[in-house]
Amino acid sequence: MVKTFKIEQSLARIVDKSTVLKVLNYIDSNAVKTPCLVISGDRLRRNFNLLGSGIRNSKVFYAVKANPSIEVLRVIDELGGGFEISSEGELRVLARLGVKPDRIISSNPVKTITFIKEAAAYGIRHYAFDSYTEVEKLANHCPGCNVYIRLSIPNEGSEWPLSKKFGVELDEALQIMLEAKRQGLNPCGITFHVGSQCNNIYNWNIAIDKARLLYTKAQEAGLHLSLLDIGGGYPVKYTKDVLGIDTIERHIDGLIGERFTDDVSILIEPGRVVVGDAGIIIASVTGKADRLDGKWLYIDVGVFNGLMESVGGIRYSYVVETTPHTGRERNWILAGPSCDSFDVIDRNVSLIEPQVGDLILIFSAGAYTTSYASEFNGFTIPDTVIV
Ligand SMILES: Cc1ncc(COP(=O)(O)O)c(C=O)c1O
Repeated sequence: MVKTFKIEQSLARIVDKSTVLKVLNYIDSNAVKTPCLVISGDRLRRNFNLLGSGIRNSKVFYAVKANPSIEVLRVIDELGGGFEISSEGELRVLARLGVKPDRIISSNPVKTITFIKEAAAYGIRHYAFDSYTEVEKLANHCPGCNVYIRLSIPNEGSEWPLSKKFGVELDEALQIMLEAKRQGLNPCGITFHVGSQCNNIYNWNIAIDKARLLYTKAQEAGLHLSLLDIGGGYPVKYTKDVLGIDTIERHIDGLIGERFTDDVSILIEPGRVVVGDAGIIIASVTGKADRLDGKWLYIDVGVFNGLMESVGGIRYSYVVETTPHTGRERNWILAGPSCDSFDVIDRNVSLIEPQVGDLILIFSAGAYTTSYASEFNGFTIPDTVIV
């Protein structure tokens, strides 16, 4: 039977119509097993091709952690994209696709020795670092490799800040680069991350200003840098409008053009924006309950098996299937399937009342969902399908 979904005007502004149509078509023509993540190949390609197009002398390295499924990686591989990885697990998936090492970098500032050895044997030559310990590890296990230093920068306005765990200030950055040089590595550039889901365009101003200061100090100290890796951070639309790729890149390109010469290579490592809005999770309603604190709606994907980022403040948009039994709109506390009270996705979601077994669509769910998921309590991780 054909399934029906009513997409309100307010939501139509947030989601890409052709992606939704593809997913609805998938639901109509397949016996859908929920939960699953359906990704529009067209949207993925469109996102990837747009990235970097507004920044001079730039190359895009997809941050594999956002969604490492081989289906997604294959699309990016076919587009000739680069990849940014952190672990031997991510490397092995790329190796299965036969991706050449010169298209892979690692910007994880603190890597395991197992990974460094495996990456070095594979032929990967570019690594981020931000400590003396990392210099030693890289010098021992990947002698002579190219290293770029991770600067600490503010992440205000990013919904998923990344600034505390990594990054060093200017003076220390210079000292670590000089030590890298002494140990035979090639300090070749600077990197930073403005924070994931960054909707504050000025984070890039501060970051690029700081990078310029360090670039000058490094040159004065006799280092020859040639690379600026601006990380990721571009946001996607979850429940509201965000800065678009073209706006962000026009801004960044202006900043770089004023501060750096044209021969500096710009690396971009987007993850979320590549795959986030290309994916929709299809889940099923598993239960409902009236409790003292409100009406609870339970679905077969939750915090543990796909929607982990909701714990950190990411709020998704949802649409439930419309049937002859659908009830009126209500506020719900939305929860996942596990028998664990941490598994609460959102405490305030307005939805028409579904029945058990009805489908629920979760928009912009392509990034940091299946990659974060576990099979806790025996619930399955959504399969990924590209349509
Ligand atoms: C080093 C590095 N590069 C790139 C990314 C991708 O960031 P985003 O998904 O916000 O684009 C991350 C995300 O954690 C990261 O840690």
